[in-house]
Amino acid sequence: MKKLSFVLLVCAALNALADDVAQGRAKADVACALCHGPTGIATLPNAPNLAGQQAIYLSEQLKNYRSGKRQHEVMGVIAKPLTDAEIAQLAAWYSAVKVTAEAP
Ligand code: HEC
Repeated sequence: MKKLSFVLLVCAALNALADDVAQGRAKADVACALCHGPTGIATLPNAPNLAGQQAIYLSEQLKNYRSGKRQHEVMGVIAKPLTDAEIAQLAAWYSAVKVTAEAP
């Protein structure tokens, strides 16, 4: 019984994460992809890649732009209306993108 409820809890958590990733992706397609690329590899030369970045780091930066603790003309405006839930979804999406690194 205990085992079953643990399994159900893990499944519910994984489902919630998958939901976050899907919703984050949908939002990013509309609001972020123009500069950060459709999969988080930046298309704008002065925008950073977000693909595969740690979710904690991404949400901290978005909250810092939102509060003004981190200042940037464009990102400040973009982050202003984001809710905590939207930030979590966007961070879940970009951190879920798999990237590989190869030494030159
Ligand atoms: C008009 C272009 C543009 C759009 C649209 C845009 N960004 Fe950005 N973003 C930038 C630029 C340029 C920077 C670098 C800002 C700086 O120097 O602090 C940046 C920085 C960031 C960072 C910090 C990355 C790091 O490595 O510290 C995050 C996170 C981020 N953007 C997320 C988003 C999300 C999420 C969206 C959509 C809701 C979005 N951005 C939309 C241009 C854009």
